[in-house]
Amino acid sequence: MSRPIAIAPSVLPADFSALGQACIDLEKAGVDRMHWDVMDGVFVPNLTMGPGIIKSCRPHVDIPFEAHLMVVNPELLMHTYVEAGCDILTLQAESTIHLHRALDQVRQLGASPAVAINPGTPISAIEHVLDLVDMVLVMTVNPGFGGQSYIATMEPKVAELRALLDKRGLDVDIEVDGGISADTIAAATSAGANVFVSGSALFRYPSFAEGVTDLRAKAEAAQ
Ligand code: DX5
Ligand code: ZN
Repeated sequence: MSRPIAIAPSVLPADFSALGQACIDLEKAGVDRMHWDVMDGVFVPNLTMGPGIIKSCRPHVDIPFEAHLMVVNPELLMHTYVEAGCDILTLQAESTIHLHRALDQVRQLGASPAVAINPGTPISAIEHVLDLVDMVLVMTVNPGFGGQSYIATMEPKVAELRALLDKRGLDVDIEVDGGISADTIAAATSAGANVFVSGSALFRYPSFAEGVTDLRAKAEAAQ
């Protein structure tokens, strides 16, 4: 049975002086969650947003918030993002030496744990934590920036992961993030992804509603 399609906009392309309004507009357009790209300038060569910004946007919308923590030692910061109102915390497998403990801590904090793997990281790096997470994020760009090109060679990785999760009977979503657009979402869906982060492509549509409708239709058609 197909897993539900979810569209998760990255707010990186948004006007950071009006993030609250962007959240309101995106919720109205029918997105399923907000994808907050948290970068610390160390794990990735870019610096974005702290929990305070997310906390200020939280009261304006009802949809779930996912914090994509592209930070070193996420254990030190995780609780602040849960306190800010994030429902899902996505940890990069490469960002902590105690990944198993950190993911368990996310669950203890009352949030939904997810694990992300960079394009160069094999599935074997997360096979012993798949039972701890509700979602795996397969990065389809090297993290740090929006507007990069989709790495199609990640599709076999998505397919291999889907097969492994199904074989183990694990109820886990697969999210893809980076270069997701009208041109790439169908192939990512066919490979086995069902949650889609889109930043620059979604913000390029004449309206968010048109983008969400188009991306969702293309994903559903490819399932
Ligand atoms: C990259 C971020 C992605 C990125 C997606 O480090 O994790 O969420 O912002 O942006 P687009 O859709 O423009 O590739
Ligand atoms: Zn992201």
